Amino acid sequence: RSRSLDGKDVKSEAAKRLKIGIYFATWWALNVVFNIYNKKVLNAFPYPWLTSTLSLACGSLMMLSSWATGIAERPKTDIDFWKTLLPVAVAHTIGHVAATVSMSKVAVSFTHIIKSGEPAFSVLVSRFLLGETFPSTVYLSLIPIIGGCALAAVTELNFNMVGFMGAMISNLAFVFRNIFSKKGMKGKSVSGMNYYACLSMLSLVILTPFAIMVEGPKMWAVGWKTALSQIGPNFVWWVAAQSVFYHLYNQVSYMSLDEISPLTFSIGNTMKRISVIVSSIIIFHTPVQPVNALGAAIAILGTFLYSQAKL
Ligand code: 3PG
Repeated sequence: RSRSLDGKDVKSEAAKRLKIGIYFATWWALNVVFNIYNKKVLNAFPYPWLTSTLSLACGSLMMLSSWATGIAERPKTDIDFWKTLLPVAVAHTIGHVAATVSMSKVAVSFTHIIKSGEPAFSVLVSRFLLGETFPSTVYLSLIPIIGGCALAAVTELNFNMVGFMGAMISNLAFVFRNIFSKKGMKGKSVSGMNYYACLSMLSLVILTPFAIMVEGPKMWAVGWKTALSQIGPNFVWWVAAQSVFYHLYNQVSYMSLDEISPLTFSIGNTMKRISVIVSSIIIFHTPVQPVNALGAAIAILGTFLYSQAKL
């Protein structure tokens, strides 16, 4: 591998690593802020279908105005592009709303502990639906991931079935989203940023009628009034913050997916959950039992072992 000895090559490799490192750090920081404001909003206004819709609407508006003003280059898309985007958008919509419903029912940390089991779902989907096989070390690494998540779930003080199932459904949906996205982005001229913008817009179209059916304007109006009277005008800023940060963290994550494999992406995503779990426990004073924390630690360690086994 003489190429790797070439000075220029080593330099560009280092520059690429630095760029991905910056993407990851930005992605994680934006995600922590999103999770905090999202939960603050959900505590005062328990309508996750509307907050999920607003996140997508805000992102879509931000991107439409960036295209209109020339801040971002408009993507060239054709009907085939939107056709291949459709399954990605369905998976993104399901994964997003399921995670938000979960967080409206349980602590943010609990949702993210269950979501740290995403690599296990990735292996199971790839094995049983796509017929891919893995070395036995990969299967072995699933034991601590699944066992750790299970231990954390059974010892969770505020366990709630809807909260648990929401996080599980989100895991499954996001595995499909990541597989389809990487396929859809391959060889396309649309950048990661614009790919995510189109994804937001299509997901918004899919989600809006369901949000109206499940919750609807009547409930929203009553809930909004109550939240405003409890929190004051700051409530509007919290809603704006959760929506803007949702778009930004996803946009940055797609900019990095452009450059890395779905596996590296899902490992980065699990590591991100450590910062979300720790910061949300501190900010929301979430009660944690030692055995509960042990479960989360085992699950995250399992993900690390999984990444080593898969490389
Ligand atoms: C969402 O609302 O989409 C979830 O909070 C997202 O989960 P992620 O941490 O997997 O992006």
